[in-house]
Amino acid sequence: MGEWQKSSWREKPRVQMPDYTDAERLSAVEAQLRKYPPLVFAGEARLLKKKLGAASRGEAFLLQGGDCAESFAEFSADNIRDTFKVLLQMAMVLTYGAKVPVVKVGRMAGQFAKPRSAPTEVKDGVELPSYRGDIINELEFTPEARIPAPEKMLQAYTQAAASLNLLRAFSKGGFADVHRVHSWTLGFTERDEAEKYRDIANRIQDTLDFMAAAGMTAATNSELGTVDFYTSHEALLLEYEEALTRVDSTSGQTIAGSGHMIWIGDRTRQPDGAHVEFARGVANPIGLKCGPTTTAEDLKVLMAKLNPENEAGRLTLIARFGAGKVGEHLPRLIKTVQDEGANVLWTCDPMHGNTIKSSSGYKTRPFDSVLREVREFFQVHGAEGTIPGGVHFEMTGKDVTECTGGVRAVTDEDLSDRYHTACDPRLNASQALELAFLVAEELGARRQVVADAANG
Ligand code: PEP
Ligand code: CO
Repeated sequence: MGEWQKSSWREKPRVQMPDYTDAERLSAVEAQLRKYPPLVFAGEARLLKKKLGAASRGEAFLLQGGDCAESFAEFSADNIRDTFKVLLQMAMVLTYGAKVPVVKVGRMAGQFAKPRSAPTEVKDGVELPSYRGDIINELEFTPEARIPAPEKMLQAYTQAAASLNLLRAFSKGGFADVHRVHSWTLGFTERDEAEKYRDIANRIQDTLDFMAAAGMTAATNSELGTVDFYTSHEALLLEYEEALTRVDSTSGQTIAGSGHMIWIGDRTRQPDGAHVEFARGVANPIGLKCGPTTTAEDLKVLMAKLNPENEAGRLTLIARFGAGKVGEHLPRLIKTVQDEGANVLWTCDPMHGNTIKSSSGYKTRPFDSVLREVREFFQVHGAEGTIPGGVHFEMTGKDVTECTGGVRAVTDEDLSDRYHTACDPRLNASQALELAFLVAEELGARRQVVADAANG
């Protein structure tokens, strides 16, 4: 395999990365980034790995979610707060259903670079390079906007640092105190799922009152007053990732300093490619998207490369097959994992296999397909006796109309109302919460099966 270095990916075939035309400008940006502080600390990534290891054994559950692509234009405290709030609500619903700790990981503070299905985009007969995320080029459909500009990496770093700072403040500064469980609702008061959420919030409040009477409050038990929140993104733009890679002084480990967890996308998981080469050498938890085209042979090689020590929590396999296809693909990959005796955490991304073009022309995802893929994921794990350890969503705290369906029944015609995503369609706050209830139900049912089995 050869010696790993943070730059050894440069010797490997790369896909989905921009060709910067001005080498000098690129080097200047890389030099600048190398001087900046890392965004995360190695000890945090290690702790997250431990928690993901617990999730792989069914002792915790991973909730990973956020934007498809973070954008410079949409950057605001309100957006970060609202996404964080919905994640807290979802986590509360899941904790309640699963009765295990929920590990909270945002697709936030670094999720800027996007792989695309085509290198160019054609509009009214004009062909331009595709938009690849705000860290690379611009969404606007003009030749200038689509030229990759290395300086955008500096802006992405700054935005990621500011986002993470706010997330840390929300997590530890009182906002996430479980006693505020009622205040995390996002104004969807008259809807079904809001009613169900209030019901859970009331029961939690009851429990908290009891605990307070018994002397346990946020002051005596810090777990009640704060949450641990982690960041993640697809490690796609390797110049950025390399420049933020650091050697941890306490352990000597090499860490990707750009976020706690990084993942490899479905389009960049070539076993001999640049992205796998970069990820194999950093000590962070690594995600690997698995799609319909993932072969058993590739998965075998990838698991060996990405987790040679077979460490629990190191490797998360993010299944994204599409509704109706889970039964065809998940069992064969579960078998490969079992044949190899590999430690992995299985999670379900019900978004990326369910993207379609709506009759009104928008890229969308029918909420029913999203729900169906989640159900199929749980069914297959139930049948195989393996552990469904988490979920991975694209969502926002805003009331957008990007995915069709849900309790409030967004239709194809509604999509144009509030379609704000720079890339893939996201669940809105109400759809995200509805999904959390479904997952909680599945987890509750699973808990019952496990308990019944234990009681003989
Ligand atoms: C994504 O997570 O935004 C993405 C592009 O996913 P995938 O690599 O699974 O298509
Ligand atoms: Co996406």
